[in-house]
Amino acid sequence: MNGEKNRFDALKRKIDEILGSSSIPWEKEQAICELLRREVPHYDWVGFYFVDQKNRDELVLGPFSGEPTEHVRIKFGEGICGQAAETRNVFVVQDVSKEDNYLSCSPDVRSEIVVPIFKDGEVVGELDIDSHRINPFTEEDREFLEWICEMVSKHLQRMKK
Ligand code: SME
Repeated sequence: MNGEKNRFDALKRKIDEILGSSSIPWEKEQAICELLRREVPHYDWVGFYFVDQKNRDELVLGPFSGEPTEHVRIKFGEGICGQAAETRNVFVVQDVSKEDNYLSCSPDVRSEIVVPIFKDGEVVGELDIDSHRINPFTEEDREFLEWICEMVSKHLQRMKK
């Protein structure tokens, strides 16, 4: 467990560097996805969804790392991503076979965590992670991913109204 905490602390420093760099928001988000997928063994697909500025009850896929997904647009309430956006809660599904409201991207995916990103009290996007393992997500994952979402919300211009 300590190893996991050290890993997450080291990754936080790298994410700080990425967010502080001069790249455009999309490139920073892409770099975060790639870093997380490369460095955390149980993160097999990592991606951002953002709330569509026109249809504000729909999520649109942003930068991601992993297999391409057919779920490029997701309505609030649909799937794990849509439920997280609608309820404004972190959604942790340790075994997707037990979740009825789930949109499958690949049969390899066994579990998923979705963390909303807030700006001025509204959900503006989310960070979505799929894992090929059952029951992989701990409280440390949750805290780490919530920290990332707070930092992304603070740093990214694109989220200003
Ligand atoms: N499984 C998600 C759909 C998005 S993919 O995981 C990339 C869901 O149920 O909302």
